[in-house]
Amino acid sequence: MADTLPNILVTGTPGVGKSYICQQIQSQLKLKWLDCSKIAKEKNFIEEFDEEYDCPILDEDKLMDYMEPLMQEGGYLVEYHGCDFFPERWFKAVFVVTCSNNTILYDRLKERNYNEKKLKSNLECEIFGTIMEEARDSYKPEIVFELKSETKQDAEKSLKIVRDWLKKWKRK
Ligand SMILES: Nc1ncnc2c1ncn2[C@@H]1O[C@H](COP(=O)(O)OP(=O)(O)OP(=O)(O)O)[C@@H](O)[C@H]1O
Ligand SMILES: [Mg+2]
Repeated sequence: MADTLPNILVTGTPGVGKSYICQQIQSQLKLKWLDCSKIAKEKNFIEEFDEEYDCPILDEDKLMDYMEPLMQEGGYLVEYHGCDFFPERWFKAVFVVTCSNNTILYDRLKERNYNEKKLKSNLECEIFGTIMEEARDSYKPEIVFELKSETKQDAEKSLKIVRDWLKKWKRK
């Protein structure tokens, strides 16, 4: 029987570059990319809509029920801008994508036509390292890694970090 591949979580503030790197990881490392926001929209795993922040509120239970059999299968690259509600047992590694250059992140979010309130709260989330803290609080700190995503070169480095991690995992 072939060994099952581990599931990996890619998290971080909106706009930091999770999808950008997941796209490359999925094609290079043959992991199955599962973009939770996209799935939630497609399958309507939405509880309500937050008018103030102009965003849907995720029905976490519905999403997790959907994901459970997939996580058993293994080999998934899960993308989401939060990480504290997933069962810890699902993931062998958690990669937190970061963009510490505020101007770059601001421009990326501005391009999405985010309203000022949403823009400000996302920028603050990144400045305060909220998701990194959430990841370290929710998973063993030794399986939490940072992937910088300001430039193309950063993405290449990130791909190498994930590739090396996977190699090491397979050797275990
Ligand atoms: N390392 C990078 N180098 C150059 N451009 C990047 C990099 N990372 C992200 N970008 C650009 O920034 C924008 C936002 O990236 P992306 O959509 O990957 O963010 P995200 O973290 O997946 O956001 P969300 O939480 O909404 O899913 C995209 O236009 C992407 O091309
Ligand atoms: Mg994305």
